[in-house]
Amino acid sequence: MSGVRFELNGTDVEVEGSGSLLDALREELGVRSVKDGCAPQGQCGCCTVLVDGAPRVSCVTPVRRVAGRRVTTVDGLDTETADVWADAMVGCGASQCGFCTPGIVMRLEGLRRSGKPMDTPAIERALAAHVCRCTGWLGIVEAAECVASGTSCAATGGERDLDAAATRATIEGGPQRVDAAVVLGGVVYGDDDAPSDALVAVPDALGDYHVAESLDAARRAAGLVQGRNTTVAPSAPIECPDGDWAVVLQTGWVEPAYLETDSAWCAPGGAPSDPLANAGAFGGKTRSPVGDDARRLADEHGRAVRVRWSREHVVRHGPKRPPMAIALRSDGTGVVRVARTAGIAAALRRVADDVVIDEVDLAGPPTSADLRGAGWAELAIARAALSTPPGAPVTITAPDGATATATVTNPGSDAAAIEVRVACGRPLDPTVLRSYCIGAAHQAVGWVTSEGLAVAADGTVGDLTIRSFGIVRPADMPAVAVQIADDDSDPVRGSDAVFAAVAAAVWIAQGLPPTWPTGRPLHSDA
Ligand code: FES
Ligand code: FES
Repeated sequence: MSGVRFELNGTDVEVEGSGSLLDALREELGVRSVKDGCAPQGQCGCCTVLVDGAPRVSCVTPVRRVAGRRVTTVDGLDTETADVWADAMVGCGASQCGFCTPGIVMRLEGLRRSGKPMDTPAIERALAAHVCRCTGWLGIVEAAECVASGTSCAATGGERDLDAAATRATIEGGPQRVDAAVVLGGVVYGDDDAPSDALVAVPDALGDYHVAESLDAARRAAGLVQGRNTTVAPSAPIECPDGDWAVVLQTGWVEPAYLETDSAWCAPGGAPSDPLANAGAFGGKTRSPVGDDARRLADEHGRAVRVRWSREHVVRHGPKRPPMAIALRSDGTGVVRVARTAGIAAALRRVADDVVIDEVDLAGPPTSADLRGAGWAELAIARAALSTPPGAPVTITAPDGATATATVTNPGSDAAAIEVRVACGRPLDPTVLRSYCIGAAHQAVGWVTSEGLAVAADGTVGDLTIRSFGIVRPADMPAVAVQIADDDSDPVRGSDAVFAAVAAAVWIAQGLPPTWPTGRPLHSDA
């Protein structure tokens, strides 16, 4: 098959004529600012580039289709345009791990270049092609509004100390930086700096690695299918015991849905790259095996090896929030039945030592107590529900000492809104802290109302795409107002307390349906 020529960021290039534009950019041309969050599913938007000025999802664009055309990645933006986007995204707290950000910038820059009105509905429609798991969307919308109007972000303002911002971001989400490079694709993620001649290892559905000379060949050898959804409803597999309970709560498997799938590379006898290159994946990669796998495979093959998990592999084999069933009496005592998970009993005991904890064996994907607030958040939420009337503020103190208060107003309407107050020591950087609080609120809304995995009785996961487990879309996210307490104590993570408090407030506002996800949107234009 003959090659394909096109213009990339102003330079003529030629690549092999097969495969996707994403693979041509990343694998053949080494353009690593274009991210792969779900290829070949075409659902996360991380790989978005401009083709003749219009946004295109490069993982589902055959490279032959761009023959003779102009392809622009975030690296191809002129300096002034790049600076405008970087200033807006950093200034509005619109990027955290940053994996989604270059694709979102290109989508929004495409909207700007289209000449169409760049108002809030248009921005939200444009963002519907993307997933951002970290920020809760509001900062991104604000950043786009700033670019459209030529103004600076009004959310916080003032001089920034970006080192202090990175310290707060690291407390909230794991080691990471806060600067223009995160926005403009300058961060090196898991296997981005692997040598170009490294072998590539991709696991099949059973978890066995297939090693090949290229990512495309490894994917083919692993027999990956295009991700699929299921019409089966999310599962809440554990039932509360019979009894006269004041509060019951049954939850299912919840996918952390970090955007960068697990990846790492290693040279023979070397040290593997860190799969947690920028931020902590909400605890989901704490025990990721990809670094050890890369080292083992590199030693076996005598060559550098990149290990790349696909989205469907992360959904099948990555850690999930453990399902549980909580039944409490009005005095707070009761029973927690939970999927057997290392460390989950200790996490529950951080909230209460007067509940009976019953770990049960379930067929299903792996579960982890490392995920955001796992165990203590569920029990704290159920206990808060015992004493909080609908519409009243809910206050939850996390085991690390942060306290958050959340209030939900107008639930179920297009005027739904969330107010959050957080006390977590010195803020260090209000913009970053606000961003993490909004992101935690977004995850909480999804957790209660829409997120969950469908898992068959034999443990088979039915939802294998990044969009199939109910992450709340930009247009469905209520306004979130964040108030940061004047607190001069040592800084601690505040967003987990916000996550728990907002989840409790949403659940109480919806009348305490016993099973999550409730299936009831918090915000609705209907
Ligand atoms: S990697 Fe292309 S849409 Fe997700
Ligand atoms: S900043 Fe969007 S997924 Fe992390």
